[in-house]
Amino acid sequence: MKKAVKITDGIFRLGSNIENGDFFEGMWPIPDGVSLNSYIVKGDKIALIDLVDDWDNAPSDLKEQLESIPVDPSEIDYLILNHLEPDHTGWLEDFLKAAPSVELVTNKKGAALIEGFYGITDNVKVIDSGDTIDLGQGKNLEFHNIPNVHWPETMITFEKNSGVLFSCDAFGSYGSIGDSVFDDEISEEEHNLFDVESLRYYANIVGSFSKFVLRAIDKLSDFDIKVIAPSHGIIWRDNPGEIIERYRKFASYLEGPAEEEITVIWGSMYGNTEKVLHSVIKGIRSEGVPVHVHKVPEVNVSWPLASAWKSKGLVFGMPTYEYKMFPPIAAVLNMFSLKHVQNKTVFRFGSYGWSGGAQKDFDAATADMKWDFIDPVEWKGKASEEVHQLAFERGAELARS
Ligand code: FEO
Repeated sequence: MKKAVKITDGIFRLGSNIENGDFFEGMWPIPDGVSLNSYIVKGDKIALIDLVDDWDNAPSDLKEQLESIPVDPSEIDYLILNHLEPDHTGWLEDFLKAAPSVELVTNKKGAALIEGFYGITDNVKVIDSGDTIDLGQGKNLEFHNIPNVHWPETMITFEKNSGVLFSCDAFGSYGSIGDSVFDDEISEEEHNLFDVESLRYYANIVGSFSKFVLRAIDKLSDFDIKVIAPSHGIIWRDNPGEIIERYRKFASYLEGPAEEEITVIWGSMYGNTEKVLHSVIKGIRSEGVPVHVHKVPEVNVSWPLASAWKSKGLVFGMPTYEYKMFPPIAAVLNMFSLKHVQNKTVFRFGSYGWSGGAQKDFDAATADMKWDFIDPVEWKGKASEEVHQLAFERGAELARS
């Protein structure tokens, strides 16, 4: 039987790993899985904080872990819904069959989404930011809105006496959880995985809302937080400040400056752009600046998005295709625009055949992205030695800038 993990007296973590090869939000690869975490807070009354989707083994895992406490779904008084995205609510209708009298606790915007997604209006307790529910036995839940981290209705739940913050998407990460769920129990290898996967999760899911993330972090500075218990990823009890500071840093990249690194995203049809790529990378490395290289369409945009989010400099290598940008790069730029990858210094290079057009298309696509540009390098057909030298110099110029 899968067992719930005790965080402190009366507070338990329930969780499931999604490892079936599905994409998160239907589009982000999760080769190392993702966890869906829920929590039980048990006083005289019992609250379940956040649910799971009807996805892979998540419902059966949750049921087994409730049984291990033991808590029968029919004993649960409150289901706290911090955020209505279906990864945390998709199993709601079936869950309510086992817990028909549970009260659903959310804010006004959350209540509208419960009705919108599930047609449910009964047994919904609408709370305001700052409201509390006393569960008895020293368990007191306080609710605070943190809009747009990740949806407008999102809130956090804080158990004041233990200092456990149930933060839902905030401070979350991709990556499955093994037997160890706490930051002080996981191996160095797992810690490194969560370092990488928290950035990718942040850039993919939350990055667009970085201004709201900073507002939420400011709001939480008044809280005496001892444990951060997110709905994705590990629980931070040894050093909750680590994940808060990591999120603060990720959010700060929206307005810049990001890290002194360069992300190169490139695609090539017949190798003419690829050959010059090597000259650009040599130029960047000649200045000692770290460079991350992503080839499209081979790589899903999830990784270049994460890499670009934390890099001050970006390079796009692509040829012209039918008067326009090489389409896989156009798709990357479309995502970067959607996700507000802004305040970067950018260099573009690429070949063309009988006609150019990629640069004009690139300029139009990036006009509103708050980017500074190094002069581009374009050439017809095969690059000459002069083109290679110019590309090397522009790579070095970008690195210096
Ligand atoms: Fe984990 Fe925005 O849902």
